[in-house]
Amino acid sequence: MSRTPDARLREVVAAFVRHMHAFAREVKLTEEEFELGVDFLNRIGQSTHDAHNEGVLFSDAIGFSTLVCLLNNGQNGATETASALLGPFWRMHSPATENGGSIVRSETPGPALFANCRITDPDGNPLPDVEVDIWQASPVGLYENQDPGQADMNLRGKFRTDAEGRIWFRSVKPAGYPVPTDGPVGDLLRAQLRHPYRPAHLHFLCYKPGYKTLITQVFVDDDQHLESDVVFGVTRHLIGDFQQGVGAAPVPGIDGPWFRLTYDFVMEAGEAKLPTPPIR
Ligand code: BEZ
Ligand code: FE
Repeated sequence: MSRTPDARLREVVAAFVRHMHAFAREVKLTEEEFELGVDFLNRIGQSTHDAHNEGVLFSDAIGFSTLVCLLNNGQNGATETASALLGPFWRMHSPATENGGSIVRSETPGPALFANCRITDPDGNPLPDVEVDIWQASPVGLYENQDPGQADMNLRGKFRTDAEGRIWFRSVKPAGYPVPTDGPVGDLLRAQLRHPYRPAHLHFLCYKPGYKTLITQVFVDDDQHLESDVVFGVTRHLIGDFQQGVGAAPVPGIDGPWFRLTYDFVMEAGEAKLPTPPIR
């Protein structure tokens, strides 16, 4: 270790090894358990491919992604933050969509949703020209890349804030869904008697040079799993106000219930950088 020229690599690997050794001592790890652990790790790699990231899912399901998120946002972990974990389903190159447009790109069940969001700096000044990438699962519980029944990029879109820092778009009200359980993470959840559900949410990634990229999620306020999200993503701040619409919807041709979401985001000054997409 002491010869590792990169000081940060030396620090991280030394701490990792120290904690791994302490872990084995603490639980008195048996040889069978060691083999099981190595096999689990190998299976995480083997079940990862272009359209699925089991490594991210594992990190999410043990609360590690949320911990790293909380440590690195909100003034480096000193205060509350409006950030939340990225999750394994963000794709780059979602279709640029005009404000007022819809991210429903193929037949999708569920009540219509009209979302209005505003982005400001911490002093309340509107931030124009923020790229806002949005993605969500369909109310059947699958992202488009998991579901051959949905068009490519269904329920994904990239918007740009206007001079008042606003974006607005149409979608469907999201529903809760189970994370994929056909791999090693599913085996772990079953062994722990944990349910696999995420409360219904929309994902947002807000990007503007000069501001710290804001990656977050907004949750549906009446979801039964808000208190027990399998990946620990919910904070009170991230629970949205989904109001059921009264009377005619803002656009013609919508029968049945429809909803409005109004939500404001604050971006802090900092470095704008994009995460590595977990899938293609
Ligand atoms: C998601 O919200 O897309 C997600 C996050 C963590 C694990 C699985 C899915
Ligand atoms: Fe999600």
